[in-house]
Amino acid sequence: MSLRKIPSLQAACRMIRHRSLLEGLLALSEAHGKAFWLAWPGFRALVAAGPHAARTVLLEERGRFRSRIEGDPVVRLFRHGLLVTDGDLHEALRREIEPFLRGPGLARWVPRILHRTDERISRWVVGDRVDLLEELRLLTLGVLMESLFNLSIEEAHLPPLARMLKAAVAYISPGLWLLWKNGPRRIDTAALDHLDRQIDQWIQDRRRESRRGEDLLSHWTRCEWMDDALIRDQLITLLIAGHDTVTAWLAWTLALLLTHPAEMEQVQAEIRRVVGDRPPTFEDLRRLPLLDAAARESMRLYPPIPVLNRIASASTSLEGLAIPSGVRVMIPIYALHRRSDRWEEAHCFRPERFRNPAAKPSGGFDYLPFGGGPRFCVGASFAWMEGRIILIRILQRARMEPAFRERAARLGATLEPRDGVPVKICELRDP
Ligand code: HEM
Repeated sequence: MSLRKIPSLQAACRMIRHRSLLEGLLALSEAHGKAFWLAWPGFRALVAAGPHAARTVLLEERGRFRSRIEGDPVVRLFRHGLLVTDGDLHEALRREIEPFLRGPGLARWVPRILHRTDERISRWVVGDRVDLLEELRLLTLGVLMESLFNLSIEEAHLPPLARMLKAAVAYISPGLWLLWKNGPRRIDTAALDHLDRQIDQWIQDRRRESRRGEDLLSHWTRCEWMDDALIRDQLITLLIAGHDTVTAWLAWTLALLLTHPAEMEQVQAEIRRVVGDRPPTFEDLRRLPLLDAAARESMRLYPPIPVLNRIASASTSLEGLAIPSGVRVMIPIYALHRRSDRWEEAHCFRPERFRNPAAKPSGGFDYLPFGGGPRFCVGASFAWMEGRIILIRILQRARMEPAFRERAARLGATLEPRDGVPVKICELRDP
């Protein structure tokens, strides 16, 4: 496939025809193979479209690309949060965070996750309609606050916190600002200021506590090199990156299972066989291949973070295309996950593809729901554990009917089901 610069008009036409930026990127990736230019008035980026190009940017030549894109709302919000720092600071922050989010120690959080999930289910009433997207948002937020930061938020206080975080998520979501840097924007500054004050309060309270726990927030307050500002940046980064992604993933997984009854039946039968009615344990998670396959396939179709962004830190080249210093490079995860030259029936929900060893992802850069290289999602193990415990518990205790037919994706900071996941609660079992 020849590599050539795509004229801006042609790219724009494709985006409009597919009525989706992501479908447009997919169409362009399939047409132009490994890498291509997107050029619109006010916006220019090189798209690392193929797995080889993605591997080069994320792993092999990562030193040539930075994550911090000065001036982007993401940097303005997270300031020096792990997601948007590079070099020594990034490595130092990652060393402080990583040990808390992986390994067998994750098992200690299972009871809290179950408790929170049971608590949320206890609010559902047979015959009622609930929006699973919003339910999962409150649930994953509560889990994150309690497990990582030992901040026990009463259920009643979760919705106001979720609203503040939604304002922050709206602020960093892609929009017109990408093309028109200084154009007018509606920003809920009151909510953002309130969120900052709340976070500062949590940090001050924790510093005052004489007996601090073994959680991340307490750990940061013990780190002499981390001041309040740097702790604030990590806290807000993890709060948003750690709940919005898991919410989107679980909402899609349940939406897909509810609209694919045969796959739902297989997963439920596996849960009945392996776990039965008792609460799931950390060890159970090793024995549920059908659930795992459905959860992986959901992330293939709807990767919560559908595009990664980098900036070339010096003049370089990719797949034969010269990249001037300072240019944006995009890795279109959504498009990589749906390329027809890699995935059979790429747009269909086929969990069995993750059960067939020949068809499983090769560990290459064609399946990247958690990114790749040294910036691989720091919360991946935590999310993978937390998400499956929540799924098992919901599927054990609630029988639901979808109150929707199909869901389109909405591209915000994460890729969520547009208009939520409304379901009717048909039956509830006691814990
Ligand atoms: C299904 C759930 C999740 C998905 C799909 C996901 C996806 C990703 C992806 C694709 C990246 C790479 C970003 C890049 O290279 O620019 C990333 C990084 C990151 N994720 Fe996640 N994530 C999830 C859950 C979590 C959780 C639970 C946390 C925290 C508790 C978290 C915290 C982070 C942080 C801090 C980074 C930046 C890491 C770095 O730059 O070193 N994520 N995530």
